[in-house]
Amino acid sequence: MVSLLLYMAILAPGISGNDGQSTVLKPTSPTIHNHESVFTVPPDADIGMNILPNINDPEAVDPQKVCPGYIALGVKSTTTGLTANLALAGPACNVYGNDIDYLTLVVGFQADDRINIQIQPRYLGRENETWFVLPEALVPRPDDSSRVTESSHPLEVSWSNEPSFSFTVTRKETKNVLFTTKGSVLVYEDQFIEFVSSLPDNYNLYGLGEVMHGFRLGNNLTRTLYAADVGDVIDANIYGNHPIYLDTRYFTNEKGGLVYAANATDKTAKYVSYTHGVFLRNVHAQEIILQPSSITWRTLGGSIDLYFYNGPSAEGITKSYQRSAVGLPAMQQYWTLGFHQCRWGYENWTVLNDVVDNFAKFEIPLETIWTDIDYMKGYRDFENDPERFSYEEGARFLSKIHGNNQHYVPIVDSAIYAPNPEDAADAYPSFDRGVEANAFVMNPDGSPYIGAVWPGYTVFPDWVGAVLNGSGAIDWWADEFIRWSKKIAFDGIWIDMSEVASFCVGSCGSGNLTLNPVHPPFQLPGEPGNLVLIYPENFNKTNATEAASAASALAAQTQTATTGVTSTTTAYYRTTPTPGARNINWPPYAINNYHGDLGVHALSPNATHHGGAVEYDFHNLFGHQILNATYQALLKVFSGKRPFIIGRSTFAGSGKWAGHWGGDNESLWVFMFLSIPQALSFSIFGIPMFGVDTCGFGGNSNYELCSRWMQLSAFFPFYRNHNSIGSISQEPYLWDSVITATKKAMHIRFLLLPYMYTLFALANKDGSTVMRALSWEFPNEPWLANADRQFLLGGAVMVTPCLVQGASTVDGVFPGVGNGTVWYDWYNSTAVTGVQPGQNITIDAPLGHIPVYLRGGNVIPVQEPAMTTADSRNNPWGLLVVLDKGGAAAGILYLDDGESLTPNATTWVNFSATIGSLTARPHGNYMDKNPLAYATVLGLSHAPSKILLNGEVLDASLWKYSKEKNLLSLGGLNTRFSKGAWSSSWNLSWE
Ligand code: GLC
Repeated sequence: MVSLLLYMAILAPGISGNDGQSTVLKPTSPTIHNHESVFTVPPDADIGMNILPNINDPEAVDPQKVCPGYIALGVKSTTTGLTANLALAGPACNVYGNDIDYLTLVVGFQADDRINIQIQPRYLGRENETWFVLPEALVPRPDDSSRVTESSHPLEVSWSNEPSFSFTVTRKETKNVLFTTKGSVLVYEDQFIEFVSSLPDNYNLYGLGEVMHGFRLGNNLTRTLYAADVGDVIDANIYGNHPIYLDTRYFTNEKGGLVYAANATDKTAKYVSYTHGVFLRNVHAQEIILQPSSITWRTLGGSIDLYFYNGPSAEGITKSYQRSAVGLPAMQQYWTLGFHQCRWGYENWTVLNDVVDNFAKFEIPLETIWTDIDYMKGYRDFENDPERFSYEEGARFLSKIHGNNQHYVPIVDSAIYAPNPEDAADAYPSFDRGVEANAFVMNPDGSPYIGAVWPGYTVFPDWVGAVLNGSGAIDWWADEFIRWSKKIAFDGIWIDMSEVASFCVGSCGSGNLTLNPVHPPFQLPGEPGNLVLIYPENFNKTNATEAASAASALAAQTQTATTGVTSTTTAYYRTTPTPGARNINWPPYAINNYHGDLGVHALSPNATHHGGAVEYDFHNLFGHQILNATYQALLKVFSGKRPFIIGRSTFAGSGKWAGHWGGDNESLWVFMFLSIPQALSFSIFGIPMFGVDTCGFGGNSNYELCSRWMQLSAFFPFYRNHNSIGSISQEPYLWDSVITATKKAMHIRFLLLPYMYTLFALANKDGSTVMRALSWEFPNEPWLANADRQFLLGGAVMVTPCLVQGASTVDGVFPGVGNGTVWYDWYNSTAVTGVQPGQNITIDAPLGHIPVYLRGGNVIPVQEPAMTTADSRNNPWGLLVVLDKGGAAAGILYLDDGESLTPNATTWVNFSATIGSLTARPHGNYMDKNPLAYATVLGLSHAPSKILLNGEVLDASLWKYSKEKNLLSLGGLNTRFSKGAWSSSWNLSWE
């Protein structure tokens, strides 16, 4: 759902938002369907108890002050770890739950770069096991089959009973303490676990998402992990949950020893960095409190199942984390890297067809057209609206776009409409089949749990019951997809509202189904009286006329608006622990949930799964498991093909099934910037297929923002323009300047597609990342610790986008220059010179230009652009040979059919350039017939006298050298490679 306060706005008549820039087509204003004159869920149905988050409560008890901690007993060291019993060290504090008297500790040196520290209740049989032990069927434990001895491990674990049990993880090489609970007490209760570690001054932590925040998390932030259906609110808990962080520490080498550099700003000093990773395998609602010198981890259940990754590079950790713990990211089909156009408000097939035609008319590549909930009959999954999105017309339209090598992706929502039992015309077979299959979540008394989402009162598929108890949701879901796929030829699926959203507290639809369909308890953007008036920052200066009329429309709207909001009482609802029982709806510890009460705008914590598990223990997994179920379903629909799924709520490991889009951002400059840290965080989380709603979802975009954003997103793996209903249109063909900017950036993207696809193949093979932070690739430059306005695509391409309204330049650094790295401007192929380490250089970035640089030392395969990826894949190849300071470069290319789950033929091509020579060595059996048309060697400092291909001198007409640019350009090579550029090894040399 959209964040209501932020997105309430109107489309003022006549406002196009295009002052100062010619509009090519008239933006359309979509209308809202299906919700006329129906019962509206009362707004107060979504109001819960008035909760004061513990972290904001001055009266809240600090567990560290009142709890006794534990004492370790019977400690046994083994060669590959340590075990102990822990006993409560004093009278129970029962601060936010019931203390567990006895625990077990298991330390395992599980792999040569990872250790595991696990603390669980000792008498699990007696305690209620599922409260504590996260089933492996839902979230697997990392493989621990290759145990290593403690003595050979780079990390060391020590423990102490002084004054109570604590543990410490130290990096042996640097003697640096990575994590220590010394000086704090361990709190372990049935609804509250707390452990605290000190951290060094000015620490650099990354991850712990999903959060809208700068990349480096800073040292004064509370991260709440509880999946919430909310727009991209800054610093709040939003859709996904990833309890992992990277901690990068910079040191100077002094007198033979490493000294921690808290304020590593001296750009003349030599630094080294060490990064380690910490993952807590826990799915409960949790909070991580980052303070200037400590991290406090609090969870409302589960156990301590901590993994420490040695690194010491960020890349080493992300690889190991994905390989060992959460799974390698899904390989994407080639076409998914093309451009995707979407909006909420494409009213019918004709409108969709017009959009597709407009892309063609303006010669902007369009790979995939999407539909939002508009296509559905009454917002029901698996049913098309017969008037506006009939199957017959859909078949004609889809056959046309498929004929053009284009694709179609529809949205599928998480909740399932529960039809009106008194209205035969309201029958909904998908629901009936789900009931039959025991596919839905229940109330504690076994009756169906009925919440409310877009269609009205709804039920919710029970993934947890299906995985743990064998109930029918996963099979039923697959069956619904199979049936629907026979009517509509979709190519991938967009999963939404999967936190899981419900627009009321509790089973508000129980007893009310005869009212169905009903309207949500709030107005949708664009509905009468709720018009969209938000414009990008400084719109009033750049687009004065439109801004003035938007302002008066806003004033009129505000005057007529009846707020209906009365001041709330300040009496907060607090609970205290009950001996022997948990309070799952209102736990004694109140996390700082965006929606307050855990049951607001979500399935209630006491919703019950088949087999008896309660939602409280698995809330953060709904979005993860719906991706699993959808992945299984698409494997059945498209036998043998890689499923393409984009999902909203994710958990650690979702990347093995799906990609993610950044959710409901706004057409504001700040959100364009935040897309970069969000993407880099999802690189850590193992979900490389990431992108955001380009040009902004809520509010109205304008040509300047959209132009910048279409260019920036061209370098994100998932490239989609999406827009909210009620907002003015923002397809890239609507403004002259956006057309030009988009084509320019898409041209680069298409050239780089083989490079990007290879990055995905590598990610899928060994967990390397696609979008990268500068600090990961240049780990010895502490001034990059905060860098999140620039990024790298793979190791070779750096993007320095302009993110500031009105600016025509951008400041950027050129990392590595102190150590000899050479950067080449993409556009003119010349090396950047005269730059100091860490120096911010002002770069020209007029509207329509996105600065892109190539890093010396890389061979980058490119392929000529076309209007679709399929056509581009039939075009000739090129090679960019970007030499480093010493005249060397290397690269890799992956080829396959672009779609098979297990391709029957693959080819890897290794490129290596040394002084005077470039070699390509293919190995594999995938045959690509396209010739090599050209090769460009950047950074060649002397003019060659002759050039040889496989020892044979090339005619001088095929190459030219620019002394001024140090650039060798070879062209017209096609006939030399008529069997295909990679059909056999070849060597190009210059003398
Ligand atoms: C949610 C989604 C958004 C979608 C809307 C309507 O807000 O996040 O992308 O457009 O629902 O389905």
